[in-house]
Amino acid sequence: MNEASKSSGALRSETSEPQSVASQSNENGSADGVPERSLEDMLSHIRALEALSDDWPAEQANAANARALAIEELNAEAFKRLIRSLKTVPGMGQALREAATDEVVYAVLRSHGILKPSVHERVEAALDTIRPSLADHGGDVEVVLVEPPGVQVRFLGACDNCPASALTFYSGVKKAIQDHVPEITEVKQVKGLGGASTAGTGDDETVYYASPFAQYTSDGWLHALDLAELADGQTKIIDIDGHSVLLSRFGDKVTCFENACAHMGMAMDGGEIADGIITCPYHEFKYALESGECLTAPEVQLQPHLVRVKGDKIDVRLVE
Ligand code: FES
Repeated sequence: MNEASKSSGALRSETSEPQSVASQSNENGSADGVPERSLEDMLSHIRALEALSDDWPAEQANAANARALAIEELNAEAFKRLIRSLKTVPGMGQALREAATDEVVYAVLRSHGILKPSVHERVEAALDTIRPSLADHGGDVEVVLVEPPGVQVRFLGACDNCPASALTFYSGVKKAIQDHVPEITEVKQVKGLGGASTAGTGDDETVYYASPFAQYTSDGWLHALDLAELADGQTKIIDIDGHSVLLSRFGDKVTCFENACAHMGMAMDGGEIADGIITCPYHEFKYALESGECLTAPEVQLQPHLVRVKGDKIDVRLVE
């Protein structure tokens, strides 16, 4: 309670005796003689104060919360009026945008709903919708670069190096970003940091090509080959429902990618296949057949399809 009283005292002194901007800041943007505090430092302080009320009786805690809310509403209204007024001054719009690049100014204006979320925040919010699914598989994704209309992301943990990462990227990450942030039209996956690999989940009879976004429904699976027809380490190009696909076996795992080079979309029939790598016969782009990763241009990759090995049958579910 004492801390709360101190806060209100500070608020009253600022509102009753406004100081000029020049008197509050020096050239370095810090208060006179007082080092600037970081946003995290100030937020930690607020969290510590909030924690004080954890053990208070409900009536007291509610009153403190209501008071804090009322002060926030007062501040929000003041900021709105201030900005509305300043915007009428020539050149002030740009000055306000520059001021909002300060982390504290930005955080406060955002918390009051005065600033809209940045593209970066919206991309993060989009990824938050799929992070629980990734976490279930021991993985995560982080944003590397946001430069509209492009975004670069990187897989972390188990998603990095997972044979299903291409599927997770297309059906999870890319879709989530483009659904939530339509102005982003290019989503690229950059190399991860080398997380653990977790491939399949399954039992003696069934091996699923695991991705959080593989929908394990009973519908849509098409028989591709018998497992015995695809030797360990072998790759076959076959047609499934009008799609030419690359079917490759790595032990008990089978991968399937559209037979279309990510460079110009050409079918790679006749391309050299060695050590799990196919080389496109046209301009020699190389792809790892276990992950679909392009070794020539890491920002692109082969389009994956779902695969399951059920008993001695290899089934494919086409991803359009
Ligand atoms: S089409 Fe495959 S490398 Fe150009």
